[in-house]
Amino acid sequence: MRILCTDTEGKERELLATNEWTVMEIIREGGLPILAQCGGSCACATCHVYVDPAWKDKLPEPNEEEVGMLDGAFEVTENSRLSCQIIFNEELDGLKVTLAPGSV
Ligand code: FES
Repeated sequence: MRILCTDTEGKERELLATNEWTVMEIIREGGLPILAQCGGSCACATCHVYVDPAWKDKLPEPNEEEVGMLDGAFEVTENSRLSCQIIFNEELDGLKVTLAPGSV
């Protein structure tokens, strides 16, 4: 399984994905320079990504904590999510995300 992640220079990378890992962990393990300063505790918003519109509705809705954190993130759009709050599963094989400013 895999995800596709576009870096801040616009280069798309294919990353191996593991069930039950967060998308942030998959991006970090794949070697992209994601900050993720709090380590996935939903306390920093430096794992901010933009989810491809085709995938947005396939993800569970963000919880209140995530929404609150995103309020303080840079350049938030309707496709913004915190990648540490998205748990990968096989239904997300091929998920496309883009690193947001402030996450690298
Ligand atoms: S890593 Fe800090 S909020 Fe996701």
